[in-house]
Amino acid sequence: MLTGKRILLGVTGSIAAYKAAELLRELTRRGAEVTCAMTESASRFVAPLTFQSLSRRPVLTDLYAQDYEGQIAHIAAAGGADLFVVAPATAHTLAKFAHGLADDFVTNLFLAATCPVLLAPAMDAEMWRHPATQANVATLRQRGVQFVGPASGELASGLTGPGRLAEPVEIVGAVEALLARTRDLAGRTLLVTAGPTYEPLDPVRFVGNRSSGRMGFALAEAAAARGARVILVTGPTHLAPPAGAECIRVETTHEMYEAVLARAAGADAVIKAAAPADYRPARVAPSKIKKGREVLTLELTPTPDILAELSRRQGASVLVGFAAETEELVANAREKLRKKNLDLVVANDVGAKDAGFSAETNRVTLVGADGEVETLPLLSKREVAHRILDRVARLLAARPARP
Ligand SMILES: Cc1cc2nc3c(=O)[nH]c(=O)nc-3n(C[C@H](O)[C@H](O)[C@H](O)COP(=O)(O)O)c2cc1C
Repeated sequence: MLTGKRILLGVTGSIAAYKAAELLRELTRRGAEVTCAMTESASRFVAPLTFQSLSRRPVLTDLYAQDYEGQIAHIAAAGGADLFVVAPATAHTLAKFAHGLADDFVTNLFLAATCPVLLAPAMDAEMWRHPATQANVATLRQRGVQFVGPASGELASGLTGPGRLAEPVEIVGAVEALLARTRDLAGRTLLVTAGPTYEPLDPVRFVGNRSSGRMGFALAEAAAARGARVILVTGPTHLAPPAGAECIRVETTHEMYEAVLARAAGADAVIKAAAPADYRPARVAPSKIKKGREVLTLELTPTPDILAELSRRQGASVLVGFAAETEELVANAREKLRKKNLDLVVANDVGAKDAGFSAETNRVTLVGADGEVETLPLLSKREVAHRILDRVARLLAARPARP
């Protein structure tokens, strides 16, 4: 049900605009309060009166109209919304969204809205396949915008291929899934680790790695947004922790081990997104190591294995590990899952340029202890975080909350 949810429905100039009326009916039938906005082209396909009658609200069509109760309508409408859905979304509007153009109601709402955005594209197959459209979709995905469809099938042009608007029931399903995320972790405590560790060599040098901490911070932020109490244990990063999260900053793997084990018993789920060093220098030189030697040999010694210790101690908590791999992604993830007794492994190909450590985006495969393997497309780290939390929420739903 969508009772009390405020949804903005943007309709743009596609032949499929008439299907938006059915979508609107489905959304209102489920209890949502829907406000429609239409582009000028959309009004050429279906009259705004149809949407006004079905939603029982004025339809936002003219950015400069004076009759929105003295408010700046696009700011007011965007501010109160739980979700902004654009269905159908034309190639033209996708391009405007991707480039930040704002010359009508729908595009102004897109820039002003802070709620999640769901787009349901509809267009001819060649328009969908065009590199410009594909680049715009990729840009929007990377910024966290969600997509449903397009489906493949017979198109209005008579051609067959990708570009059909997703069926209204499918769009409603995506709406419900997105809105269900909002508070589904309320009452749960999540412990998230992030970032690299620095293992000192001497008073000024350390052995570290390229982890930026972005994935762990995105997880902490997404979990907090979904109502969880979040404990973030992080190695050195320049990132600001999300508001409301308890942030414990550590430097070495040993410090991370201590901080995590001290807090894990009270957590419903532990997500180990950090990249702690597996080895540290066996000896830390008391003063700066001088240059001038022909060869300098470092002796390294293993650091404590945080995940292994956690899985040994943990009973009820959901345990999620990351596997940064450069080859054999799924096989290595399965091995880690089994060896460390985890519920879920997030395997990412750190060899790829657009995924892994420093990138804003990530391409991961989720490998569950239940055997489910889910390969996600290239997504923003924020969206990857939500997909991981969707799985964690499902696992938690099967377990009672901690007292
Ligand atoms: C009969 C007809 C059907 C169209 N169907 C689509 C469509 O399904 N998808 C699309 O991207 N553009 C379609 N167009 C083109 C758009 O209407 C056009 O690009 C317009 O500028 C979109 O404006 P808007 O995005 O502001 O609504 C169609 C045009 C016509 C005349």
